[in-house]
Amino acid sequence: MDGEPLRENLVLIGFMGSGKSTVGRILHQTLGWPLVDMDGLIERRAGMGIPAIFAVEGEDGFRRRESELLASLEADGLSRRIIATGGGVILNPENRARLRRLGYVVWLRAPARTILARTSRSHDRPLLQAEKPLERIQAMLAERMPLYQETAHLEIETSDLSANEIATGILESARYDFGGRV
Ligand code: S3P
Repeated sequence: MDGEPLRENLVLIGFMGSGKSTVGRILHQTLGWPLVDMDGLIERRAGMGIPAIFAVEGEDGFRRRESELLASLEADGLSRRIIATGGGVILNPENRARLRRLGYVVWLRAPARTILARTSRSHDRPLLQAEKPLERIQAMLAERMPLYQETAHLEIETSDLSANEIATGILESARYDFGGRV
């Protein structure tokens, strides 16, 4: 998937609870670039929250909305945005190629237990409403890890880092890739 010209967007990928939204907000404040929160946009356009979309349209309906939104982010040709994705966006091969064309893709990694601790109190992630959430997270991570890896230009293990440290690391690497224009 190399060889594409890199658009100057910063794209955050990673499992639920890996810190994409928090790090996205810091990057937005630091760079002054708009923050595109894909889940938030999908909810606004659908006029309902993610659990309701899953309940009414199933996961397929949600994935269709997610892929359509990503296609429109590529088609609008804009640069200099922070794009925070939902954790499952990488399941679709066309999405993976699009993400890389959209900009510099950063994978925020976190181990299953950290993800469980960060997500256990929220009820807005239908895919984690399981009887054994740790096992569910482990199984989903095993399926998705290679997909995050093949999509990312940069991966960051987040467990021992603060959100500010992660954002600083991303900016240093992106500066290099964007030829100092960030
Ligand atoms: C999903 C992750 C969620 C949201 C939806 C599905 C996934 O986003 O898009 O619940 O399949 O991993 P976050 O990663 O922002 O929680």
